[in-house]
Amino acid sequence: MKERAPRIEVVGNANAVAERAAAFVIARMRDRQPINLGLATGATMTPLYARLVAATHAGLISFRAATSFNLDEYVGVAPQSPGSFHAYMQEHLFRHVDMPAERARIPDGMAIEVAAEAARYEAQIAAAGGIDLLLLGIGANGHIGFNEPGSDFASRTREIWLDEATRIANAGNFPDRVSVPRRAITMGIATILEARSILLIATGPEKAAAVAAAIDGPIGPACPASALRQHGNVDVLCDEPAAAALATRPRASNRRRA
Ligand code: GLP
Repeated sequence: MKERAPRIEVVGNANAVAERAAAFVIARMRDRQPINLGLATGATMTPLYARLVAATHAGLISFRAATSFNLDEYVGVAPQSPGSFHAYMQEHLFRHVDMPAERARIPDGMAIEVAAEAARYEAQIAAAGGIDLLLLGIGANGHIGFNEPGSDFASRTREIWLDEATRIANAGNFPDRVSVPRRAITMGIATILEARSILLIATGPEKAAAVAAAIDGPIGPACPASALRQHGNVDVLCDEPAAAALATRPRASNRRRA
């Protein structure tokens, strides 16, 4: 498939990335309602969600006509467990904004039939008309959602086994190593690529290698984020440390994002 390079913007630090990303999302939400959002979790997303909450409280945006689909959820972790992505999203976004609870959708990690739940979730995204704007972080190993290295670009929402590196990276949300989940349900790479627009944000030196592999490396399953170069409508927002290994240094920008 023809490569279609993402638009890359480098801003000074993580705070500036969150500001820029929030301006991007706010503009899109003010421009299009109802809107279907794809949402990620993780430390990178936290300051962005804080700004979306502030914008909602300031009356700049509303989630009343929004529907959201989270990228992933651990298998076997109860929604009320502090380590679950359900709990993360409640804490950082959902309980602070005016999106009806039934439209804040996350895979059910407690489903008995995990494969059936993955298929149901995939169908739910399609039935909603697909995703207008998908927010992505990136794992240090280049994963997007929980699509670990080796994930097929044709993959759909499914159960996956987490790489040890990912379990270690996410261990902070669990009381001990034993309780860090081994499995998750994740939107597949093909599911992600069907989003009409994608914003990937990356901050910190630990993401520099993954960002460089995604943007400059071979397009293939070794770096799941490299699939984004087949999409055609991707914006990548990095701080300087996360952009440090890029071959072609995009001009650091101080323009307001659209
Ligand atoms: C997890 C999530 C990803 C996220 C990644 C990076 O693996 N499944 O969606 O992008 O962590 O998280 P952080 O922003 O905390 O580095």
